[in-house]
Amino acid sequence: TWTMLNIVEDAVEAVREQIGDGRAICGLSGGVDSAVAAAIVHRAIGDRLTCVFVDHGLLRKGEAEQVERDFVAATGVKLRVVDASDRFLKALAGVRDPEEKRKIIGREFIRVFEDEARAIRATAGGPVDFLVQGTLYPDVVESGHGTGTANIKSHHNVGGLPEDLKFTLVEPLRTLFKDEVRRAGEELGLPPAIVWRQPFPGPGLAIRIVGEVTRERLDLLREADAIAREELSRAGLDRDIWQCPVVLLADVRSVGVQGDGRTYGHPVVLRPVTSEDAMTADWARVPYDVLSRISTRITNELPEINRVVLDVTSKPPGTIEWE
Ligand code: XMP
Repeated sequence: TWTMLNIVEDAVEAVREQIGDGRAICGLSGGVDSAVAAAIVHRAIGDRLTCVFVDHGLLRKGEAEQVERDFVAATGVKLRVVDASDRFLKALAGVRDPEEKRKIIGREFIRVFEDEARAIRATAGGPVDFLVQGTLYPDVVESGHGTGTANIKSHHNVGGLPEDLKFTLVEPLRTLFKDEVRRAGEELGLPPAIVWRQPFPGPGLAIRIVGEVTRERLDLLREADAIAREELSRAGLDRDIWQCPVVLLADVRSVGVQGDGRTYGHPVVLRPVTSEDAMTADWARVPYDVLSRISTRITNELPEINRVVLDVTSKPPGTIEWE
C-alpha cells in the first residue's frame, strides 16, 4: 500500500542518515523482525552491512539452514555464521532464574558481535560502529522502556544489553507492530517463509526450559518442538496460530507407565496462542485430534517425556513464553 511504501522509504532514509558512510552489523535470528530490519539497512547502506547469524545452541531444528538459504537468496546480503554454542552454554551453566538467563544471553550476543566487528574491521578496512536490532514497539514497552511501564521481561534485544555497549544501536522497527513489519517485509520482497514465520524469541529454547539449560535438555526440547510444529503445519494451522511454544518442565517429574514399566519423566507444555501483536493473547483452540497426535508422537518418540499438558491461560495474566 501507499502508506507501507512510505514507511519503508522513510525507514531507509532515516538509516542512511544515521549511519552515513559508516559500517553496521546485524544479528539475524531467522525471524521476521531481524530479517526486515536487515533488509531495510541493506537497502540503505548496501555492502557496508554485514549480517551475523549466531548459532547459540538454543535454536530450533533447521533454523540455521533456513537463514543461510532463504534470507541470503532473497537479499544477497553478506552473511557470517558463528557457532557459539559452547560459549553460551558455559555462560548459562547452573542458571535457573529467567531474568538472569535473558541478561546472560543478551550479554553474550553482544560479545560475539564485538568479536565479529573486529574481524570485519580487519578485512573491510574501517570500523563497525553500528549494531542493527529488530526491536519492535511492543518489545520496547514490555521491557519497561516505554513511559510509565513496568519491566515485565527483559527482551534480550532491549533490556539485556550490557552497560558498556560499544555500538550505536540502529532500530528501524522501533515504532512498528508485528503486522506492519510483515507488510514491510512483503514490500521489501522477502519470501513468505520469512515474512509469515511464527515469532521465535532471541533467547531461544533457553527460556522454554524451566530450570537449568543443558545440552541434553535442549536436544530433548528441540525434538518435541519439531514434532509440534510439524503436526500443526500438517493440520494447516500455521496462519491461525500466532505461535506455539513448547516448554520443558525440566525440574518437574511425574510418574507414568510404559509397557510393563514405571517411568518417572518430565512434562512438556504446549502453549498455542492467537494474537494480533503479542501484547495480549488468547490460548488457541487447537482441534483435539491435532493435540492428540502431538501428544502421542512426543511421548512415543521421546521416552524422557511421559506427559504432555496444554496451557489454557490468556495473556494477561500469563505471558506467551513461560520465562
Ligand atoms: P511474552 O512472553 O512477553 O512474549 O508474552 C511476547 C512475544 O515476544 C517474544 N519474545 C521475545 N522476542 N526477544 C525476542 O526477540 C526476547 O527476548 C523475547 N521474549 C519474548 C515471544 O516469543 C512472543 O512472541
